[in-house]
Amino acid sequence: MGNTVLVTGGAGFIGSNFILEWLARDCGTVVNLDLLTYAGNLLNVASAKDDPRHIFVHGDIADRALITRLLGIHQPRAIVHFAAESHVDRSIYGPKQFVRTNVLGTFELLEAAREYWSVLGSAQSEFRFLHISTDEVYGSLAADDPAFCETTPYAPSSPYSASKAGSDHLVRAYYHTYGLPTLITNCSNNYGPRQFPEKLIPLMILNALESKSLPVYGDGLNIRDWLYVDDHCSAVRTVLAEGQPGHTYNIGGRSEMRNIDVVRTICRILQEEHPSKNDYASLITSVEDRPGHDRRYSIDCTKIEAELGWKPSETFETGIRHTIRWYLKNMEWVAQVRTGEYQQWIRTNYATRAMNA
Ligand code: NAD
Ligand code: TYD
Repeated sequence: MGNTVLVTGGAGFIGSNFILEWLARDCGTVVNLDLLTYAGNLLNVASAKDDPRHIFVHGDIADRALITRLLGIHQPRAIVHFAAESHVDRSIYGPKQFVRTNVLGTFELLEAAREYWSVLGSAQSEFRFLHISTDEVYGSLAADDPAFCETTPYAPSSPYSASKAGSDHLVRAYYHTYGLPTLITNCSNNYGPRQFPEKLIPLMILNALESKSLPVYGDGLNIRDWLYVDDHCSAVRTVLAEGQPGHTYNIGGRSEMRNIDVVRTICRILQEEHPSKNDYASLITSVEDRPGHDRRYSIDCTKIEAELGWKPSETFETGIRHTIRWYLKNMEWVAQVRTGEYQQWIRTNYATRAMNA
């Protein structure tokens, strides 16, 4: 097989970081399929605009005819599936789109992949379908519960995590039923450059810079594990290269923190990187809790560390500093993402090789 991979959701936060690293390491050609929802932004892959190894396709993972056409033309050796509706708060107020994209979209992608794979002949064993999922499928932990491992039963509590759980089950079923060489990664909360400013970390950085309040849900004692996005991307490359088909790998940053401590750390580092006369921490405001707010996530990533030799290289302290510096240097990106100006930029500047006309 050649060295092309099909990446879905490559204009979003993690997908774009993955593609830029993939190209920087000269890992091969990437077909980047993205619907460019509010979360997808071609500015994220602007540096690959004229790179012949990056082929952008504006389209929907639920469009099976399009996927079939792309697989036939580009003959990828793998599909790396990032595309999803990804924000818990949005899923609470509009769950239908989550079911449509995350469950039905993944189903259509799997069907097209199965059809393509079934006639690959001797190359069948080399093909991989890598599905990117979340630790949220495992549900919520109490303070003294052991961390999630790959065999922890699924117990999703939000429409987002339920839709990701549904897609994980389908992906696993395609391995067991049809033999499609699928892999699943369940990772913890990512942060880093190019994250849409609706998620906790970029929202807090940008609100603080604008002297807006920093809304902490409930008592602020909910716990998440934080994974720097480059570490996630290196884990995905590792699983793609070395993971066993049919297996699941948990990925974590070994950085469990209470939300209030995350926000206080952001305030402290912002004060060092962008000093303000007023204390950023004075902007912290407790607000009404999220309905069904999971109390604690904790991820045991011993399997990927022991079997595949992967480890995160950033601590929260180093990763959050890189992230804050990136946002401070890229306020133009922030302005464009917020105003939707980038949509105009796409039309005028980006030579999209759209296949779905
Ligand atoms: P994101 O919301 O930033 O990006 C999602 C991308 O998918 C966007 O570019 C969007 O345009 C695209 N997309 C949405 N619907 C599509 C469709 N129907 N067809 C084609 N493209 C479509 O998300 P992210 O934070 O980069 O997350 C990527 C993946 O990682 C998701 O599957 C998410 O569930 C998973 N994940 C994310 C985190 C996190 O902390 N961000 C943690 C664990 C797992
Ligand atoms: P978020 O970034 O939305 O990720 P997830 O819900 O997938 O974990 O939120 C991370 C944590 O921060 C979560 O416990 C909810 C909390 N949170 C706030 O306290 N305030 C906010 O404004 C946001 C967006 C999140």
